Amino acid sequence: MIVAAMKVLTIVGARPQFIKAAPVSRVLRLQHQEFLLHTGQHYDDAMSDLFFRQLNLPAPDLNLEVGSGRHGAQTGAMLPGIEEVAIEQKPDWILVYGDTNSTLAGALAGAKLHIPVAHVEAGLRSYDRRMPEEINRVVADHVSDLLLCPTDTAVANLAREGVTKGVRMVGDVMFDAFLQNRDVAAKSSGIVAELGLEPKGYVLMTVHRAENVDDPARLRAILKGAGEAGREVVFPVHPRTAAALSSNGVSPGPNVRLIDPVGYLEMLALEDCAAVIATDSGGVQKEAYFGGVPCVTLRDTTEWTETVAAGWNQLVGTDSDRIAAAIRNARAADPSRDLFGDGHAAERIVDALSSWRDVNP
Ligand code: UD1
Ligand code: UDP
Repeated sequence: MIVAAMKVLTIVGARPQFIKAAPVSRVLRLQHQEFLLHTGQHYDDAMSDLFFRQLNLPAPDLNLEVGSGRHGAQTGAMLPGIEEVAIEQKPDWILVYGDTNSTLAGALAGAKLHIPVAHVEAGLRSYDRRMPEEINRVVADHVSDLLLCPTDTAVANLAREGVTKGVRMVGDVMFDAFLQNRDVAAKSSGIVAELGLEPKGYVLMTVHRAENVDDPARLRAILKGAGEAGREVVFPVHPRTAAALSSNGVSPGPNVRLIDPVGYLEMLALEDCAAVIATDSGGVQKEAYFGGVPCVTLRDTTEWTETVAAGWNQLVGTDSDRIAAAIRNARAADPSRDLFGDGHAAERIVDALSSWRDVNP
């Protein structure tokens, strides 16, 4: 079948979006044209360019360089730039990923210009509207034309909100990225040995959710709990967290080792060799499941509920005793099942984009 080439305007801006966009961009560019717009939400080399290099993601066609700021200022700063590019490029689609302010801005700009919007990772819900990400998800989903869901739960969440048109279950692009990079990471990254870590002898921790980091009491409790779990904890520190630790004078106990944020390949290698992963990251919860590493989630809710139901993930909130006990007692569950697709979500996403006009003339 001959497929008419499309032009897709992809919007990325934050670390997990570079990882999600890489497998899709590769498939998309085989037959179609992509304009890659980086909002500049993340800008440190270790939060941005490093991922483009490691994942062979083509350099952005434009970087809006919006930088950091409060929600309104940051999201607002993205809108005129995205709008201008969309008007100039006249894409067939605006493609957005996940739940960040860059996702929200891309979806809003597209919807207002009547350019079809496709949302990858549609339908996720934590049902906690205090999370900025939950607002971004709900709005992005409700202005999108094509809702590309990673799981059956996501499809059901949308149906509960009356959203059934344009919904496709495609699987999880982070699982695609994981499968494509796991072996490369194991071969190329020597980080576990470089840090002098014993494989399966340490806990890998990440903490960056605003509700944890911006509340010094919660941040202290997390560090205390991790430090009391009786194992060495390796903690690549997100810049938001680094700023909060320093401005609140919070320092970790002797068992917790802070390191700079690492690249994707280093992170996969650290995850693979960890005995337990403790995190408040959405992506890292899933990667723990993909790799069969028990996960302790430092939140009260999760949008990745299947990982909890499958017995791989414990939701413990930020009580230090609960955190320490959960890390101490974490055990691998039954062999993991393929809850996140088959590693070919990217192909299904590109198919959905290119066949949409046939179904919705
Ligand atoms: C954002 C997303 C979050 C996602 C996370 C991925 C929103 C509302 N939040 O959170 O959903 O899980 O990215 O990592 O979109 N900073 C730097 N250098 C950088 C980037 C950030 O120093 O390259 C610091 C700045 O002090 C900034 C702070 O980190 O104020 C927070 O950055 P921001 O992009 O606003 O939110 P994240 O916490 O990264
Ligand atoms: N990650 C990384 N280096 C780090 C921390 C995380 O490469 O130091 C990767 C991680 O493996 C996952 C993604 O970043 O693929 C998750 O992004 P993040 O935790 O920033 O955001 P979230 O998934 O919570 O939106």
